[in-house]
Amino acid sequence: MPNAAAHARAPAAPLSAHRSGPLTGRLRPPGDKSVSHRALIFGLLAIGETKIEGLLEGEDVLRTAQASRQLGAKIVRHADGNWSVWGSGLGSLLQPVETLDFGNAGTGSRLMMGVVAGHPIVARFDGDASLRKRPMKRILDPLTLQGAQVLEEAEGGRLPLVLQGSSEPLPVEYKTPVASAQIKSAVLLCGLNSPGQTTVIEAEASRDHTEKMLAHFGATVVSEPYGAHGRKITLEGRPELMAREVRVPADPSSAAFPLVAALITPGSDIVIEGVMTNPLRSGLLTTLQEMGADIALENRREEGGEDVADIRARFSHLAGVDVPAARAPSMIDEYPILAVAASFAKGETRMRGLSELRVKESDRLEAVAAGLKANGVDCEIIGDDLIVRGGRVAGGGMVETHLDHRIAMSFLVMGLASESKVVIDDEAMIATSFPSFRVLMERLGARFS
Ligand code: S3P
Repeated sequence: MPNAAAHARAPAAPLSAHRSGPLTGRLRPPGDKSVSHRALIFGLLAIGETKIEGLLEGEDVLRTAQASRQLGAKIVRHADGNWSVWGSGLGSLLQPVETLDFGNAGTGSRLMMGVVAGHPIVARFDGDASLRKRPMKRILDPLTLQGAQVLEEAEGGRLPLVLQGSSEPLPVEYKTPVASAQIKSAVLLCGLNSPGQTTVIEAEASRDHTEKMLAHFGATVVSEPYGAHGRKITLEGRPELMAREVRVPADPSSAAFPLVAALITPGSDIVIEGVMTNPLRSGLLTTLQEMGADIALENRREEGGEDVADIRARFSHLAGVDVPAARAPSMIDEYPILAVAASFAKGETRMRGLSELRVKESDRLEAVAAGLKANGVDCEIIGDDLIVRGGRVAGGGMVETHLDHRIAMSFLVMGLASESKVVIDDEAMIATSFPSFRVLMERLGARFS
């Protein structure tokens, strides 16, 4: 099979962020990335037309759409921006001819491994240089227990790899070794085509979009408390998945960038519309409020089965806090931008238990600390904790983004309020999750060049 992935990239496109006047106005960030991947995947597995409103049209999600097409779905983007997916149906996926190339998308690749593992097909998975470094063994371990076989893999259980699925995945009870919605989701998606029950136990609850969507598409799934912070999720195999409409709320992980930008830029007052406030995604809001942030959730409502609100954020004098490790699953993607907020906060912020940050799109613990230091912020890593002593942010640094969209956006936000500009080495990866970042931020008053 052709090796289309780990492709040559366009030359790096550096971008600078400059100290800006007050940020004002309203914006709606794009659709939630987690929900968007899942909407396409459930569309692939359901019979009939799944209509999706507000799909994130970022590169990661477009990769999942392409892979879904390769597995048999018909997918159309309508002129009004809505999408339709006509699925091949659970148990009826096509054998893909070409490599499934997921680019930078960890979620897309891992969830799709679960889907493939539950079908009698062979698929080759690959991705860009960042995705090729990320651990896949954590996904492959449970999938092989369920009956899939890894025919080829790069050293250490990495991409590119070839996975052979099973026509009859075994019913399993699996306890995830780390809090990870991707592991949980892969096991459940594989278990969909099992003749029995599939149970996933997680000691710390991770985001529950897969469970919600399983129920929405007609599967029988029960989620119950497990221990102090965990969940036990039980899925009945071989449901008849029926096509549904999905409305994708705005992504709280993208909203986090304008939110923190407003909090640290003097005089700012903005409203971020339609943001998902699912409690398993809201750790950043809790933390910022503890730091003294002036944040109000307005117009709370339900959209597409998720709680959403308009978030009003005004410039605030922040103070450092201690962020407990137990909060990490509910804000795992928000630590880079929290570290930026902490740089402007008075006193020390200690973010505990960040080992999972080391296996994201980059080693985010190292990348964040390096970016902070390059801009004159006092910080250190002790074990799995990041400590930031904030107050004054000199700026003036050049930040290496390591193919990581959230590192790129976090440090651009820093530059809006630091004394000197902040430069990032490459803005290209921002398009994976938030293609309109620059335009929407400039409309609020942010200055980039
Ligand atoms: C995601 C789960 C998280 C998160 C990622 C999206 C998901 O990863 O970091 O951006 O949609 O399931 P882990 O499952 O590795 O924690």
